[in-house]
Amino acid sequence: MNMAGKMMKAVWYDSYGGGSTGLKHVEIPIPAPANDEILLKIEAASINPIDWKIQKGMMRPILPKKFPFIPVGDVAGEVVEVGPGVKNFKAGDKIVSTLGGAGGGFAEYAVAKESSTVPRPPEVSAADGASLVIAGCTALHALTVTAGLNLVKTQPRSNVLVTAASGGVGHYTVQLAKLGNTHVTATCGARNLEFVKNLGADEVLDYKTPEGSALKSPSGVKYDVVIHCTTGIPWSTFEPNLSPNGKVVDLTPSGGAFWTFAVNKIMFSKKQLLPVIVIPKAEEIECLLNLVKEGKIKTVIDSRYPLSKAEEGWGKSIEGHATGKVVVEP
Ligand SMILES: NC(=O)c1ccc[n+]([C@@H]2O[C@H](COP(=O)([O-])OP(=O)(O)OC[C@H]3O[C@@H](n4cnc5c(N)ncnc54)[C@H](OP(=O)(O)O)[C@@H]3O)[C@@H](O)[C@H]2O)c1
Repeated sequence: MNMAGKMMKAVWYDSYGGGSTGLKHVEIPIPAPANDEILLKIEAASINPIDWKIQKGMMRPILPKKFPFIPVGDVAGEVVEVGPGVKNFKAGDKIVSTLGGAGGGFAEYAVAKESSTVPRPPEVSAADGASLVIAGCTALHALTVTAGLNLVKTQPRSNVLVTAASGGVGHYTVQLAKLGNTHVTATCGARNLEFVKNLGADEVLDYKTPEGSALKSPSGVKYDVVIHCTTGIPWSTFEPNLSPNGKVVDLTPSGGAFWTFAVNKIMFSKKQLLPVIVIPKAEEIECLLNLVKEGKIKTVIDSRYPLSKAEEGWGKSIEGHATGKVVVEP
């Protein structure tokens, strides 16, 4: 279907800052796919903290590339049109895509690179699929690539700590970690203790208690791997809770994290702090979609908003208290 000259609803911002009040509803032309691109009708877009951190100016001057900017990169939808060089998709295909720094997800239509797009099995809803992209790929990459865990039951047992286990990244991390031979300790707020246990965590700590803020395992285990999904916990709190070769994968690295990383390297410390930034890859998205299809992991959705109320979803994510994912649906 040729959409040239047709208009769509979108939500963008045209300067740094402003939070949800900085978002503006506009009507603009539907974008045209380039040679290697797909035009998709968006069915769901999933908000991540990086989206509003870009608006705050935390990636300045790299992102956004220009104003006005339509935020959000994690999307699922249906292919409407393909560029002449696209080989593997056709109109009508259901897909999940990462738009990355180009953004475009807060709209009725968006263009995506073929190389950043994967087919979505019919068993996985658009909202569940879009939610997997940054949050799920980060969890998978942190556990398997950065921490080096092999997520099969036949491996030697590892003790894993997941901080902020109720959030977008954390809730996937707990479930993925439990696919391996792991004992999982998790931190979350009091209201989410049962929720996180039901994701598979073996023991759960309320982060507002003294034991929780000290990250002390109730059963006394020392952690081989920590997947750290929140902020404000210094190395001095992690260090005494680690096994002799324990690694902390820091998903929210500050300047101090890079300093600790460097000092540990210089001192040949066996305990390590590993700052990491994950960029979702198509094969990781495909792997996660299959795990959802097979019922091995699930997406938990905190809240859904229509595109007409995208700013409410944006505000919900900024508050930092979502349980699972925040989704916007045109
Ligand atoms: N490095 C990377 O490549 C990468 C990739 C993705 C995300 N990230 C970063 O990782 C962080 C988490 O992302 P997300 O999508 O999971 O965020 P999110 O969904 O917004 O996380 C919200 C959850 O975190 C919980 N929480 C907040 N502070 C906590 C604490 N001190 N201890 C335990 N739980 C706490 C909240 O629980 P309460 O409501 O009970 O407070 C809430 O359930 C963000 O800073 C994000 O930018 C980094």
